Amino acid sequence: KFTPRVFSGIQPSGGLTLGNYLGAIKRFVDMQGPKFATIYCMVDLHAITVWQDPAALRRNTRELCAGFIASGIDPEQSILFNQSQVPEHAQLGWIFNCVARMGWMQRMTQWKDKAGKNQQNASLGLFAYPSLMAADILIYHATHVPVGEDQKQHLELTRDIAIKFNNDFGVDFFPVTEPVIEGAATRVMSLRDGTKKMSKSDPSDMSRINMTDDADAIAQKIRKAKTDPDALPSEIEGLEGRPDARNLVNIYAALADQSVEQVLAEVGGKQFREFKPMLAELAVSKLSPISSEMARLMNDQAEIDRILARGAERARVIAEPILRQTYDIVGM
Ligand code: ADP
Ligand code: NA
Repeated sequence: KFTPRVFSGIQPSGGLTLGNYLGAIKRFVDMQGPKFATIYCMVDLHAITVWQDPAALRRNTRELCAGFIASGIDPEQSILFNQSQVPEHAQLGWIFNCVARMGWMQRMTQWKDKAGKNQQNASLGLFAYPSLMAADILIYHATHVPVGEDQKQHLELTRDIAIKFNNDFGVDFFPVTEPVIEGAATRVMSLRDGTKKMSKSDPSDMSRINMTDDADAIAQKIRKAKTDPDALPSEIEGLEGRPDARNLVNIYAALADQSVEQVLAEVGGKQFREFKPMLAELAVSKLSPISSEMARLMNDQAEIDRILARGAERARVIAEPILRQTYDIVGM
């Protein structure tokens, strides 16, 4: 009943990290092709659920667009746009605020993590975030959503909202979206503290690898990454209880387009002092062409703005009739 359609988004809330690249953007690129229509979004309405300096938000939005294109998103083949330029996201988000239940939102671990101890002082938008995210996806009747593991719970909520809407109104209108959480690097951890994910929204983590880092910075961060004293195992079982080793091997595998098993067959027995330079060289070889292309694209901001405006127009062609039908179902 539903056309195979991919939607995913990234917040323009800071510089892109290796985690965003491996867990999201690289996989967005892989999903372009004849199987799916692909729609990728800079979700600025999500970014402002925590404070964003307006000039930084504007710059980060353009830089994110440059990052998408430099990584291989083709703005002709995919629809590439900025969330706030398509008002139907926020409009459907309001409908979903009236479908989702308080109790569902209170269970979201990202809400608990981001609001911290002082929930009373968090924005209402931060609390409602997953409901807007459901609208981002369902305003396109998207069937597949590639994301990192941290978004798994939000996608379950998206499914719950679609199911409840369909039940409440006795329709089969919204698809029950499939999360696509695949590959070796669905959760890249911090190189400093293996219990936290690498995140662009955590500026205090100086160990994080940014997509715009130069070769020296990348090599230095990998050299300093936390590890254990043992050699690398040649089988995956040997990584059990070794989260830091596991993280570096996962990163290597994802960058090399190999499985963890394939990587271990090659590097098993090596010490980290040998493996880290291999990883650094691989990371630099993949990231530096992207960062130089990003810098080139950022020199022509008018062109970026033109691409985003065109993407928003194309997005609205899909979103507008779906919103109109939703209003009709609700009785508006
Ligand atoms: P961040 O947490 O870095 O601010 P976003 O919330 O904008 O990133 O998420 C953008 C996409 O990047 C999502 O699909 C998310 O799952 C993915 N992602 C973010 N951090 C990581 C990570 N450390 N490892 C894998 N994927 C990640
Ligand atoms: Na996130």
